[in-house]
This record gives sequence, C-alpha cells and structure tokens, in this order.
Amino acid sequence: MSGSSAPGSGTHGSSCAPASLELSPQTPPRVPAGAAPAEPASTGATAPTPRTCLPRRCVPRPPVPSLDALVDHPSLAPRGLIARGRALGLAVGATTLAGAATFAWGQAERHFPVVRHIDVPVQSSPGMRGISVLQISDLHLYPGQEFLVDFLGRVARTEKVDMVVSTGDNLGSADGLDLVRAAYEPFLHLPGAFVLGSNDYYSPRFKSWSSYLRRDPRLADDTFVLRRGLDGDQQHTDLTGAGPEGGALVDTHTSAATDGDSHLRPDLPWHEMVSDFTAAGWVDLSNRAATVEVAVEGPDGSSAQQPVSLIGVDDPHLDRDRIPDPDPSWQDPRSLRFAVAHAPYVRVLDGFAREEPDLVLAGHTHGGQLGLPFYGALVTNCDLPRRYAKGLHTWYSGRLSTQLHVSAGLGTSPFVPLRIATRPEVSVLHLRPVD
Ligand SMILES: [Fe+2]
Repeated sequence: MSGSSAPGSGTHGSSCAPASLELSPQTPPRVPAGAAPAEPASTGATAPTPRTCLPRRCVPRPPVPSLDALVDHPSLAPRGLIARGRALGLAVGATTLAGAATFAWGQAERHFPVVRHIDVPVQSSPGMRGISVLQISDLHLYPGQEFLVDFLGRVARTEKVDMVVSTGDNLGSADGLDLVRAAYEPFLHLPGAFVLGSNDYYSPRFKSWSSYLRRDPRLADDTFVLRRGLDGDQQHTDLTGAGPEGGALVDTHTSAATDGDSHLRPDLPWHEMVSDFTAAGWVDLSNRAATVEVAVEGPDGSSAQQPVSLIGVDDPHLDRDRIPDPDPSWQDPRSLRFAVAHAPYVRVLDGFAREEPDLVLAGHTHGGQLGLPFYGALVTNCDLPRRYAKGLHTWYSGRLSTQLHVSAGLGTSPFVPLRIATRPEVSVLHLRPVD
C-alpha cells in the first residue's frame, strides 16, 4: 500500500523532494512591468528563515572512476600522468627484484671459493729451482664461516705446494681465533711467512655499503713518507720477539699502533695467532726481513733447498708500513726474492720495486668484492688503480718494474657478506725460472 505524505512533511525516502519545495517561498513574486516592487510585508516579527540545507547524504556524488576508466577517458585524467605512474611502478618493482636477485647472488657467490693456479716466470740463475707458493689472504673468519675452513682443508689435501704466504686479515671477530687455527693447521708443517692486516688487529665496524663503490677518501692528503728502518718501539717484530720485558713489548706496540688513542686499542686476538704461526716456524714479515729455506724436489728426483729471501711491512692501511733492509740472502743469485704486504698502497709498491723483488704479494682489495661482470672491481679500498685489484700484473715504478700478485682473498666483512663478480680464492703461484 502506498502511503501519501503531505507536502513538506519530509518523510523517509522522499526528503529531497519536500526540501526542494521549501525553497519555493524564496522565489520573488512576479512584478508587473512598470510597477514598483512591493515591499516585503511587515509582520512585526522576523519571519523564520526557510531551511535550505540539504541532507548531506542526499547530495549526489560523482562516481569515482577506476584507474582503467581514467586511462580510457583522457578527459578525466591526463593519460601521460597515468602512464608515468605505471612506468614508475614498474621501475620500482624491477629495481627491487634486481636488488633482491643481486643480493641473493652475492650471498651465493661468496660460498664458492676457487683455487687459481698462476705461472710466474722469474729470471733464472745457476742452482735456482722453481717452487709453488700458496697465498692465503683475507679470510675474515667468524662463526658461520666454517665453509672456508673446510675449503682450505680440501686445498691442503689436493694441492701440492712448497710454501705458504699469508697476506693478512685472518680474523673477522674476537671469537674467530679457533677458526683461524683450524684453517691454517693443515699447512703449518710447510715453510711459511705472514704479514698482518687491519682486521687482524681490529674488529670490523659497520660502514656504509657505498664505501664499496667509492675511492678511499684518505688518499688525497696522505702525507706518508717512505722510511727505511725503524725505531725499535714501532716494529711489529717487538710483539713476538722474546724481549726482556715479554708482554710489555706488546703494550708498546699497541700504543704505537693506536697513537695513544685508547678507544682504538686493538681488540682481536692477533697476538695468539702470531704466536701460533711463529711457533710453527713461520716468519713474521711485519716490517721485517727473513730468509726461508724451502725443500724442493728436482726433475731427477733429487731434493735441494731453495732459498727464499723475503721483506715485508706491517699493514699500510694503518700507516704501519716501514720497509726493512733485506737479508744478505737477497743478494744471493740463487734466491727467490719476495716482498709482502697486506694492503698494496702505491707508496709501498714503489718502495718494494726499488728492491727489485721477483714477486710482490698482497691482499686487502678482495678483488673489489662488489664488481661488475666484464668490468671488474669498482674500487680497491686503497690507492691501487682498479685494474690491479686482483691477479698477476707488472708494476712499473719509474724505470723499475716488478711482478705484483694481488689476491682477491676468501672472506668478507660480516657487515657486507657479499661477493659479486669476485669469486673467493686462494692462489697457487708457480715460480718458474726462465732464461
Ligand atoms: Fe680484508
């Protein structure tokens, strides 16, 4: 049954119509032509103002167009705006996917270390024999990196080497010492030599990932001047030598390394690690020279001792490098001559070149760690030009030259556990005398 409502009653369902009717009294009366407009009749009381408000819910709203409708109707929204929005969304999505894929690849690549065999010709002399040298660098061991220890175990079982050279950055945290000991244990029966890197002294600190894409900012104002020889309290050798004060020498070194800045005091168990190495007969080349006799087997099956004369420096990345005077064996024509540093700063390489070694060994760069396929390292974390970031090269210093091998190393900082286009590696360098 349809109920009829009285006009103006504003009943449910038809409130809009009565409201519109209430507006009609406001319509001015029609005035005949030429007649004065009539004054409003005074009633002696203020006439109530007609209600003109409309219920808000009754105001018709334009339909909200869908995104597709906006695209299909340029009059509603600029087509270019919509297209740019979609393009931006696609770009953000693609970038996010690419970033996630790159991160996943970098995580995977660091778990696949390789052994690189490198032929290193050296000038022959009577009685000189070739040797194979295993270079281990930049392990950065901390709990969770056991796969690198396992890898080195396989290397020890499968590779025939005559000598080991460690180019530093073995520790990745204060609780990484046991892993370092396990990693090197299979090689300690061989002749060995080592230098230390900054990450043997100091725990790694978080630094922006962009630092892996920028050059070392310290280069521009590096005022270091090469010096030969040392003051006694600056030699890293004081740390491990049996000085009359024993541990007091360690404190001397520590204060020297930190320039008295106590909050930068080395916090990693480097001293225990060095003690293990030296107890095995390995020579500490931190601002020192040494000679190692390497037992080699000739092609006729006879055995002989091949002298290897070495010089090395403490970490140039900490400005701890002082090139020592070589041993007399350096002048022996039969000797192979190696110069060893952790970080291959140009000043150090130029200083080594003056001594005319057969080979310079260094690490530190991680081969760039974050590289680009077919392009290589973006940075070297020192002033070494990018093209020398890893591998064997000839290093020219004026009219002098020497062979330089930079290892890409095995590990990563725990804060940037990625390697991209830079496989972790150990190197087996085959020193081969040639006429
Ligand atoms: Fe390193």
